[in-house]
Amino acid sequence: MLDLLVTGATLPDGRTGIDIAVADGRIVDVAPAIQAQAARVIDAAGLLVTPPFVDAHFHMDATLSYGLPRVNASGTLLEGIALWGELKPVLTEEAIAERALAYCDWAIARGLLAIRTHVDVCDPRLLAVRALLDVKKRVAPWLDLQLVAFPQDGVLRYSPARDDPGCKLSALQLLEQALDLGVDVVGGIPHFERTMADGAESVRLLCELAAARGLRVDMHCDESDDPLSRHIETLAFHTQRLGLHGRVTGSHLTSMHSMDNYYASKLIPLIAESGVNAVANPLINITLQGRQDSYPKRRGMTRVPELMAAGVTVAFGHDCVMDPWYSLGSGDMLEVAQMGLHVAQMTSQDAMRACFAAVTQNPARILGLDGYGLAPGCHADFVLLQARDAVEAIRLRATRLAVVRRGQIVASAAPAVSTLTLDGKQRAIDFLRSPPGC
Ligand code: FE2
Repeated sequence: MLDLLVTGATLPDGRTGIDIAVADGRIVDVAPAIQAQAARVIDAAGLLVTPPFVDAHFHMDATLSYGLPRVNASGTLLEGIALWGELKPVLTEEAIAERALAYCDWAIARGLLAIRTHVDVCDPRLLAVRALLDVKKRVAPWLDLQLVAFPQDGVLRYSPARDDPGCKLSALQLLEQALDLGVDVVGGIPHFERTMADGAESVRLLCELAAARGLRVDMHCDESDDPLSRHIETLAFHTQRLGLHGRVTGSHLTSMHSMDNYYASKLIPLIAESGVNAVANPLINITLQGRQDSYPKRRGMTRVPELMAAGVTVAFGHDCVMDPWYSLGSGDMLEVAQMGLHVAQMTSQDAMRACFAAVTQNPARILGLDGYGLAPGCHADFVLLQARDAVEAIRLRATRLAVVRRGQIVASAAPAVSTLTLDGKQRAIDFLRSPPGC
């Protein structure tokens, strides 16, 4: 007797009429017309069943704090960092946890069941670290949280005396304390250090720290419009030197948007060779970059199709929701994919499907998620969308009809349907329409 049987699903790889059998929290069979009794049956009716959405880049310690203590008037990255610095001294562990848990509810409802969140360690109290480690434990039955020890003020630039004259710990010592407490990944922000040389040095020491501890690395890297911000080159070098292939991620990489094409033609193969992953954050990049341009204004997102074509694993992250850097968002990775598609002009059928992969299977690979996917043996985690395929899911930012975690329905929503009343007659429409020939 199965716990759950999903019938008549379309899968992201294009297979149709597929049943998914679930027992003991795992997928046990994926095939057409499975004949078995099940305690619960979900008729997918030809709609898309996908592995859960995964966010490879987020800031859960700051989420839902929009307006505290004030709104970012200029809308720039640097005012956002300054604003976060104003908020930090008045934060409490309880308030951080309460906001994070509220966001996790949103995420689960959106079928977003794994999030890599950076957590600021430039705080002698490590409040956010303690709060998010607690949140990670509390949400573990429903959502995988992976924490990155992120020195927001720069691992070398941070000055402990400024924040707390009684605390003399350096950012590196605080970062190591966070790792000792159970934070999973080593972070960094080389472009925010005082000099290019300090930025390169921060990349070296943080990669060596990760290698010594057997951890992954994910750095905010070159989140700048300066085409000469080239810390990604150093990150690729140390990844290769230390044998960290596949375990290191460069987040943002927005300077690559502004780089000279000749240099980019050298850099991208080096990134691919080193096995460094890339994360673009389309909503935030299009909002924060190019702020000092007049016209034309640069889009500022990294070179997503070119990186993908070179074989680099590329994911789209949400980065921010209602925080000092971004006032909007609701945990909808289809909104993220849709913005990424537009900004990168990835409009072919294959490119649009690649944008869907950039919020599902690619970030799952970057996080190193165990048992992710729709195959026998994988965790029974998946989402039924009100869409017939991955492209339609992005087009409609499709309703999550059912979200399943370990074989249990953890969220559901009624189909989005509008009722028209025209010429005195009522009829319902749902906006589903596959284009001919696709
Ligand atoms: Fe970020």
